Amino acid sequence: MKLSQFTKQALPLLKRTSPTPSQDIELLLCYALNKPKEWVLLNQEYEIPQNTEKRLKKYIQERLDYTPLEYITKEKYFYSNLFYLTNNTLIPRPETEILVDESIKEINTLLKQKNIVHILEIGTGTACIPISIIQEIKKGIKLFREGNFKINITSTELSKKALQVAFNNANRILKGFSTVQKTSDLLIKKFSTKSFTLNFNIVHADIHIPFNKSNFKISPSNMNFDLFISNPPYIPTLEMKNLDAFVQKEPPEALNGGKQGIQIIQKIFSKTIKQRAENAVFLIEIHPPNAQILKKYIEKNYEIRTLSWIKDLSGKKRFIRVETI
Ligand SMILES: C[S@@+](CC[C@H](N)C(=O)[O-])C[C@H]1O[C@@H](n2cnc3c(N)ncnc32)[C@H](O)[C@@H]1O
Repeated sequence: MKLSQFTKQALPLLKRTSPTPSQDIELLLCYALNKPKEWVLLNQEYEIPQNTEKRLKKYIQERLDYTPLEYITKEKYFYSNLFYLTNNTLIPRPETEILVDESIKEINTLLKQKNIVHILEIGTGTACIPISIIQEIKKGIKLFREGNFKINITSTELSKKALQVAFNNANRILKGFSTVQKTSDLLIKKFSTKSFTLNFNIVHADIHIPFNKSNFKISPSNMNFDLFISNPPYIPTLEMKNLDAFVQKEPPEALNGGKQGIQIIQKIFSKTIKQRAENAVFLIEIHPPNAQILKKYIEKNYEIRTLSWIKDLSGKKRFIRVETI
């Protein structure tokens, strides 16, 4: 079958389920033939090899069954790095890039005050947040700070399958790192220059269990974290069934935030708060309608210095920033 014939057959089918049928076909052709978009556009008379045609038909069927494109291609760009993913991980979202930007700002501020900065990230999934932060730090080490300094980043994940995806991305994307330790539950990577050391731990952990030294032997030498970062599951349980059919293909444990959508966020505070350094900051992605409930919960239960919101590109209160005492 020629490329043009394939498009003619697939288009009316995809129109049934996909909001972007033409783009889907183009992307799937590029992926299956391993060719750039321009090549696909210019070679409409190309005869698709039979085995590739079979694969393409399978992809169209998956698309008709509401499979996200990223679960077919197993990749997604986030903060200019290409992340591997599977259907055991959330597909990184563009709005979460704002969390990376804000985290970098916090790290910059912290490095003006300290030689060693300890960061804990919860629910890492593909590890898109810490890896993006690390790539930016590496690009701008000189901008970050002159002199000796050290950054420890520990990322946690509950799903063992997602953990393997995070390990894969850390091993593939992070260049110049050595692997200090690797088990099925833990990966420790290290990068160092004369004046700078970066330790990156990815560990299997459940936020329902306090993140402290007695529970986690691997933790960085200092368990008083300066910065807590998370994009946790935050969709209220009752809203799960109303999610877009493509989103419903993502792992429920990556989305479902309990009855009100704040259960995991409450755990993040209650199970890590004792492990904070003075003036520690929490930066957490939230369900915008929960902004006020969370404010009340945090102000009632914790001694804090400031609480503010960071908006996403559509103007919604998508992130909460809490500076503790
Ligand atoms: C919304 S996803 C975010 C994934 C990734 N950080 C991102 O931004 O694309 C939430 C992640 O938290 C993990 N998770 C869910 N419950 C958890 C728990 N109790 N402890 C630790 N991680 C958990 C999920 O498996 C999922 O990978």
